[in-house]
Amino acid sequence: MSSHSTAELFDAVDIIATKRDRGVLSDAQIDWVIDAYTRGVVAEEQMSALAMAILLNGMSRPEIARWTHAMIATGERMDFSSLSQPTSDKHSTGGVGDKITLPLAPLVATFGVAVPQLSGRGLGHTGGTLDKLEAIPGWRAALSNAEMLAQLDDVGAVICQAGSGLAPADRKLYALRDVTGTVESIPLIASSIMSKKIAEGTGALVLDVKVGSGAFMKELDDARELARTMVDLGTDAGVRTVALITDMSTPLGLTAGNALEVRESVEVLAGGGPPDVVELTIALAREMLAAAGKPDVDVAAALADGRAMDTWNRMIAAQGGDPHAPLPTAQHTDQVLAPADGVLARLDALAVGVAAWRLGAGRARREDPVQAGAGVEMHAKPGAVVRAGEPLMTLHTDTPERFDRARDALTDAVTIVPDGDRAAVGPIVMERVSA
Ligand code: URA
Repeated sequence: MSSHSTAELFDAVDIIATKRDRGVLSDAQIDWVIDAYTRGVVAEEQMSALAMAILLNGMSRPEIARWTHAMIATGERMDFSSLSQPTSDKHSTGGVGDKITLPLAPLVATFGVAVPQLSGRGLGHTGGTLDKLEAIPGWRAALSNAEMLAQLDDVGAVICQAGSGLAPADRKLYALRDVTGTVESIPLIASSIMSKKIAEGTGALVLDVKVGSGAFMKELDDARELARTMVDLGTDAGVRTVALITDMSTPLGLTAGNALEVRESVEVLAGGGPPDVVELTIALAREMLAAAGKPDVDVAAALADGRAMDTWNRMIAAQGGDPHAPLPTAQHTDQVLAPADGVLARLDALAVGVAAWRLGAGRARREDPVQAGAGVEMHAKPGAVVRAGEPLMTLHTDTPERFDRARDALTDAVTIVPDGDRAAVGPIVMERVSA
């Protein structure tokens, strides 16, 4: 069917031209273009032109809100009102080594707040939560809505694949943006994330908006604008929403790669783990619990005394996984050595993310498989003293022909300054944005 059909309310070309000329779209135009695109009436090339016009010329607050709600209206809305516990969820805009969901969901559930985490698979240099959990033997990502509700009732935490029924317009549009250079638009990112989170039906939501080389947002001002836009969208939709803006100039923790990150998450649940991962897990847990009406609980104690680990074991087992099974390891390793003595001043998140991806931890196309054991293990983080010739990183892969390309990605990844020039290491949580 053509977009010029007399049965259609608008013409896609007029809508594209309005945005191209920096005009404001009406509610009716937005409702129509999202619905018609989902039905296949607005063609891919037309939506691609509109997405580029939006990337270049932006959208007003009311336009973003309407766009978000039009995408929600293309699908189902979940309903957790039958649960006896309040619900609280977290969403990260994505980064390198970002395994926080894994310890966070069971930790929050330990305090009687249910965590419905609908997650995705990784594309490009940022890993996906489902890819990480699939490194656990037997673990299953796909649950029906009924299974998800039952697990929330019983264990209190679920991390599973988002069904195709939530905001199908976003699914289609995100795939198009991915191949047309239109991902990096604040209105389109905010509406994409929030349409899924509002449709998911969580009562409270904490956003982890990443800023730095390994994030979508490279500049703090852009991260602030994205955080503010999403907090306002959530609040207006009746979801108690806050955002933390957090550092993604360097990877989180000491691992980037699927099984490697599961292992590190289990260390955090056992009361150990790298300090930055522990700090961010605790900060986000406090926000999720406060937003769900439980501000005064001792979050760190539940990591130290094994309560969060108990919930993790139950959560993994409920989805067919064996939490005690050995994790897969890569067949080959290679080391990257420190080129000089001094203090590690910079370890670039994007470079490590690309290296992990090239080693086989991530995928280039949606249908590609990932290697469970592949990735990068770091032996030093910014601020650490390093000695020439000592290992800085270990590269893991099943396919050793990948080592050269991974090393290429790491060529300019580190800066080492002379001893005594103490490198300034900034805080992991940089700012908080609330309603
Ligand atoms: N994650 C999403 O779900 N959508 C975006 O547009 C970017 C990140």
